[in-house]
Amino acid sequence: MCGIVAYVGHQEAYPIILKGLKRLEYRGYDSSGVALLDGDLNLYKKQGKVAELESFLDGQSLKASIGIGHTRWATHGEPSDRNAHPHLSASGRLAMIHNGIIENYAALKKDLSSRGYVFKSDTDTEVLLNFIDDILINNDCSLEEAVRIALKRVVGAYVIVLLDKENPDTLIAARKGSPLVIGIGENEHFLASDASPIVEYTRQVVYINDYELAIIKGDELILKNLGNEVITPFVQQLDLELAAIEKGGYDHFMLKEIHEQPQTIFDCLRGRLDMAKGEIVMAGVQQHIDQLMHANRIIIIACGTSWHAGLVAEYIIEELCRIPVEVEYASEFRYRNPIVNKGDVIFAISQSGETADTLVAIEKAKEQGALIFGVLNVVGSSIARISHAGAYTHAGPEIGVASTKAFTAQLVVLTMIALKIAKEKKSIPQERFIHLMAELNEVPGNVERILSDTSKIHKIALKHAAASSFLFLGRGYNFPVALEGALKLKEISYIHAEGYPAAEMKHGPIALVDDLLPVLFVATKDAYHEKVVSNMQEINARKGRLIAVVTEGDNTVEALTTDLIPVPETDELIAPILNVIPLQLLSYYIGVARGLDVDRPRNLAKSVTVE
Ligand code: G6P
Repeated sequence: MCGIVAYVGHQEAYPIILKGLKRLEYRGYDSSGVALLDGDLNLYKKQGKVAELESFLDGQSLKASIGIGHTRWATHGEPSDRNAHPHLSASGRLAMIHNGIIENYAALKKDLSSRGYVFKSDTDTEVLLNFIDDILINNDCSLEEAVRIALKRVVGAYVIVLLDKENPDTLIAARKGSPLVIGIGENEHFLASDASPIVEYTRQVVYINDYELAIIKGDELILKNLGNEVITPFVQQLDLELAAIEKGGYDHFMLKEIHEQPQTIFDCLRGRLDMAKGEIVMAGVQQHIDQLMHANRIIIIACGTSWHAGLVAEYIIEELCRIPVEVEYASEFRYRNPIVNKGDVIFAISQSGETADTLVAIEKAKEQGALIFGVLNVVGSSIARISHAGAYTHAGPEIGVASTKAFTAQLVVLTMIALKIAKEKKSIPQERFIHLMAELNEVPGNVERILSDTSKIHKIALKHAAASSFLFLGRGYNFPVALEGALKLKEISYIHAEGYPAAEMKHGPIALVDDLLPVLFVATKDAYHEKVVSNMQEINARKGRLIAVVTEGDNTVEALTTDLIPVPETDELIAPILNVIPLQLLSYYIGVARGLDVDRPRNLAKSVTVE
């Protein structure tokens, strides 16, 4: 949520910052801005996407070798030029960018206002900035000390980066709860919310931890804690290819990421599915196998699409491992005094590994003695760091705001974890274990087949692109797929969509059905198939516009609709991984047909680091 970039060194800062902001736009894009220091401290801010800022600044002389930039997802104050970051302190000495939320900003603001401070924006950021400025003015101290004093009184989450007119070669940065990476170049440093703005300049990076403060010049990086003790930076080698964060010939990142799925799923299975030995190799699971096998309960905590992956996992784990599973929205779990016992295992599912609600929820469960197992995509992310163990999904960077390849990789990892526990626990017969392994092994090829010809899905999408509402229905393993299909469509096309268990639709949503309502059934062959076909009949009788994802060769519902999307046959437990692919494509094509920015849908952000 919000992307930050900063540079200090010997190059022109503005082009580096601008390019970085474009890479981080997935984190928020309602306004953006830069501050450049070259004798004068100049701020440029614009409502809208980074391209607006770029054209606003086109042709201007923007010389400076130190600067900060920000792309915003509004929390305090509407998206506008005035609320865009960076902000300038009342004294005019400091400029600051911020990612996160200052929870006690109202009290700080009241105090500052009573002492004559006037605020130009509605943001919590400007309050924190003036609080720092005020400390600086009233105490004879350095900016670094003022920041330290201020942060000790601040409640909330933040990454901040400050530019100081009186120290024109130095950036000050600090973090608690939101991510910050520093790239180390030759007499230059790059700061960003993730490594994507940095990778083309250097592969040497330092991930800043909570409660750390960095003092950064072109040729120097000093890291301290809030107690003013110097910390030795842990320099890591970046493992990220530039190609992974570029569109590579596709019109959108979302389409590229949908098409990457045969490879990402293969990468996720690689080295784990040992077909020759009939084993699943997952070090994180193995390490805690006793606790996992004998868990009283598995509680899955996640948000958004990751929560849907958790729901599929609930069905799979209960079926294969016979362990009770509960799936919780992190935002609900964290505030309701949840009952967590020592024998409970928490699965935290998160693509970004930074989602604030998930992070806090698992911290709470950890305090109560549960084992925390992360299913995560971003190596070294905040959730990875506080988990006891885990398994990475290896889907690579996901830039499209609506999650696609991360979701299928989550399903693959969760299925492997369940299979591994079931094998150890002997809760399923060996033949079923081998059969499911073989089916998993077929998934990359089967996804490839779905993606080899998307023309039918495209045609169906165009037919229904003008709909104002959509219903997605499924049962069993396909119920969470229906939820995910509805979420994807909402996110990308702004069409109101609901996902429901197919039978449950009789208890309400059926009232919505008329000859204008598209109703998509995820109706592949499984234990519920006949019942799902009956549900389709019920919709057909009310003239709903049926669309169905069906198993290849199944002609049971041909009489009900011609809008059929066949997918390769597989075990019902593996089917969600295949069945969601047409739903991703359907949303994508409808979003494009409606002329929308599918990679950056309005109001959304990819990494939700505020609660
Ligand atoms: C945001 C994103 C979703 C994502 C959710 C959870 O809402 O737009 O795509 O599913 O956050 O994010 P996480 O990184 O924890 O999986």
